[in-house]
Amino acid sequence: MDIKTIKIFDTTLRDGEQTPGVCLEASEKLEIAQALAKLNVDVIEAGFPIASPGDFAAVSMVAANIKGPTIAALARASKKDIDAARQALEKAERARIHTFIATSDIHLEHKLKMSRVQVLAQAQEAVRYAKQFIQDVEFSAEDASRSDWDFLCQVYTAVIAAGATTINVPDTVGYTTPAEFGALIKYLRENIPNIDKAVISVHCHDDLGMAVANSLAAVSSGATQVECTINGLGERAGNAAMEELVMALNTRKEYYRAATNIDTRQIYRSSRLVSTLTGIVIPPNKAVVGDNAFAHESGIHQHGVLNNSLTYEIIQPELIGVSRNNIVLGKHSGRHAFEERLKHLGYELDSQAINNLFVQFKDLADRKKMVFDRDLEALVSVKKAEIPEVYRLTYHNVVSGNKTVATASVQLTSHGKVVENASCGDGPVDAIFKAIEKAVGFEVGLKDYLLKAVTAGEDALGEATVWVEREERIFSGRGLSTDVIEASAKAYLNAINKMLAACGCPSEGQGEEVI
Ligand code: KIV
Ligand code: ZN
Repeated sequence: MDIKTIKIFDTTLRDGEQTPGVCLEASEKLEIAQALAKLNVDVIEAGFPIASPGDFAAVSMVAANIKGPTIAALARASKKDIDAARQALEKAERARIHTFIATSDIHLEHKLKMSRVQVLAQAQEAVRYAKQFIQDVEFSAEDASRSDWDFLCQVYTAVIAAGATTINVPDTVGYTTPAEFGALIKYLRENIPNIDKAVISVHCHDDLGMAVANSLAAVSSGATQVECTINGLGERAGNAAMEELVMALNTRKEYYRAATNIDTRQIYRSSRLVSTLTGIVIPPNKAVVGDNAFAHESGIHQHGVLNNSLTYEIIQPELIGVSRNNIVLGKHSGRHAFEERLKHLGYELDSQAINNLFVQFKDLADRKKMVFDRDLEALVSVKKAEIPEVYRLTYHNVVSGNKTVATASVQLTSHGKVVENASCGDGPVDAIFKAIEKAVGFEVGLKDYLLKAVTAGEDALGEATVWVEREERIFSGRGLSTDVIEASAKAYLNAINKMLAACGCPSEGQGEEVI
């Protein structure tokens, strides 16, 4: 049987970063890009360089450091955007410029205020311009699924003639259906005379919950590149989820006669990493990577799975990197067992990082009887946010109750100095955040706060995520502890430290310096 290879174009760092509330630091983007390279994606869309200096820097950093996948940068169909994209991609081993312009009448009339003739000319000119610098040029007709099919054929024919090597068909607003989208791809294949010179790609949004189904219908009709994001992140309801697309093609390979180059064993780890770094929690019932994806609740199912897992499991957990063999570590576990477990979970860390983590592990094992894989994953992910620790929590005390006003006092160290302060608040978390704000001496701009347990049980590790805003940028911080107040305070300081690293100190600290 002929099995065609479907290219995976990952846009977690570009469309995924457009998820409301998500704002990744350059170092976090690099970490995700490293995970994408391990997954063996074909293309990483690293960002939209013209959008901001931060985006430009992040694309340059990914381009300079990631080998293997093609690195793509987004550009509107304009010289200015294309110049920014090609400059950001300068150091890439393999580079792609991804340029786009809208083609639907609704966008032409209300957004671009251009005629079809003008759009056609601008699209062709943009591709011709990009082609002077980089051979690999992708063109997207934004809102293609609501565009006139014959106009789309005209535009795609013109851009392929100008040198586009990939033509992307976005369902920008998640409007299409599998049958309709499959028919559109077939129509394009049959009515674009030079289609043999380009790869057909699709980019589906999930507004009606059909992004993955629409992408798969397109594959059945001849698309050979799919654009997607880890955990389905993206603008509004998100994009097609990479893990779902890849596992659908992997599980139903004979049906689709298609496969990807993805190393599926990296799926689970990458999904957790993206969730941790973005703060977007994975729903337990999420296909493929949700906590319940391999949980069998009913007795009949459990009985079947014990006899033969194939009775109720169409994906073996090991295939996406989830171990059935959930070895638990505890306070008597040595460095060797700890290191082996990290390796088993897919982490490749240098000995310095393992030493630091081992200290944290021992501390955790003292507070918590059993340390599970999820606890280790959480420790690794928090350790990885490597930013200068301008403020560090050295002491905290909180008093709260249903008949008392919550009060908190904190002691922080900063550049060898000790600052202290105290505050009341509406509950213990509010009190400690206010005490920290007084100690650092500037308004922090708290936007959001999330607390979740990493594992079940009374002594579960709590993971807090905090979002703060400065200069229209959002910074997220994470903190871990079996004490949820401490986890919250650490997360708040982590976000503050990130903000200081990016924007500098807004004013002198007014906290009470005691040493
Ligand atoms: O959704 C969309 O149309 C896009 C394009 C820029 C490809 O993200
Ligand atoms: Zn999109």
